[in-house]
Amino acid sequence: MENILVTGGAGFIGSNFIRFLLSEKKGVRLCNLDILTYAGNLENLKEVQEDERYRFFYGDINDQALVRQILNEFKIDTIVHFAAETHVDRSILGPADFIQTNVFGTYHLLEEARRFWIDEGFNREKKVRFHHISTDEVFGSLPPDDEPFNETTPYAPRSPYSASKAASDHLARSYFHTYGLPITITNCSNNYGPYQFPEKLIPLSILNAVQGEPLPVYGDGKQIRDWLYVEDHCRAIELVLEKGTVGETYLVGGNNQPTNLEIVESICKILDDLIPGSPFKPHSSLIRYVEDRPGHDRRYAMDTRKIQRDLGWQPTVSLEAGLSKTVKWYLENWDWVASVCSRPEFGLWVTRNYWQRGGKR
Ligand code: NAD
Ligand code: TYD
Repeated sequence: MENILVTGGAGFIGSNFIRFLLSEKKGVRLCNLDILTYAGNLENLKEVQEDERYRFFYGDINDQALVRQILNEFKIDTIVHFAAETHVDRSILGPADFIQTNVFGTYHLLEEARRFWIDEGFNREKKVRFHHISTDEVFGSLPPDDEPFNETTPYAPRSPYSASKAASDHLARSYFHTYGLPITITNCSNNYGPYQFPEKLIPLSILNAVQGEPLPVYGDGKQIRDWLYVEDHCRAIELVLEKGTVGETYLVGGNNQPTNLEIVESICKILDDLIPGSPFKPHSSLIRYVEDRPGHDRRYAMDTRKIQRDLGWQPTVSLEAGLSKTVKWYLENWDWVASVCSRPEFGLWVTRNYWQRGGKR
């Protein structure tokens, strides 16, 4: 791993991964290809923009000529593929972009990797790897008493987002079996931490609570997710790149099972302590139950024994500590928050997603 192409590196996890890798590994050179959708933000990468090991390319993963040029010019030996449309609610209101980026985009990237590494023989000069970033959502909704997902759980996606990610996972795996492209895949649970776009539950709840806005909880709020602090995810990816077995999938998660309501209540308690003079205390009084998400997956849970056993990875940040760090990060980075929230697109999204959902206490 010397010359790395990260796709979607201006987004939440991608930008955390770029900062993480540049601080961990001195000898790498890193290209970031990102089309800067509403979720991409170069502010997330301010710390590294002057680093001579880092280059940003504005563009689409579907642009095969551009991808080809980057692979050739920078002799890319490792691709870490984050670029995607990622928000379930947006996929419900408009699936087209999800198919275009997550399915076609992944296909185009795989094709270019195959061309450069295998057809043109670069893999005879250098060890290469295509690492595909995926999600636990491809496994669908887990009944309350079922065992957690593991690497052999059949795929059963239920939203356009998870269906498009499932399609991209299948494509990536097919390129391994059919063409011998050296693929690894990680399916990770819900990430949280610095620089997450405030359309997702945790940052949205923090920002709304601080400003005395309602905290929308879908349905009865008893849906269960597994939550992982983003830096732990970055460490897992680095380990899979270094020690993972080609062709294998690894599940990555925080080994916790809170309900959404518990998450929102924890955020409220942290804010009650951090802002004792807030006029909105107790922040939990801002919670509102709103209309549920259609097809809402009830529960996700992760069996992470494989990555623990084979690669020695386990989460290091507890949910309690991670939530506290995250809330503090948002409070200390209000300029970032203000610039993201002042974009017209964000206001439009909030109106579009929440306007007709109602809001009972
Ligand atoms: P994000 O929405 O914050 O960022 C996505 C990035 O991809 C943005 O910078 C966007 O501009 C870029 N992008 C979108 N379409 C593109 C295209 N056609 N060409 C180039 N760039 C494009 O996403 P995230 O939360 O950082 O997620 C990153 C990856 O991790 C995704 O593949 C997602 O499915 C996966 N994942 C996310 C989570 C999570 O909880 N956030 C959990 C598991 C897996
Ligand atoms: P989200 O952060 O959108 O991630 P994902 O859908 O990928 O899991 O949502 C996390 C959970 O929180 C999910 O069960 C939906 C719920 N949720 C709310 O209850 N209210 C909200 O305003 C949002 C955005 C999500």
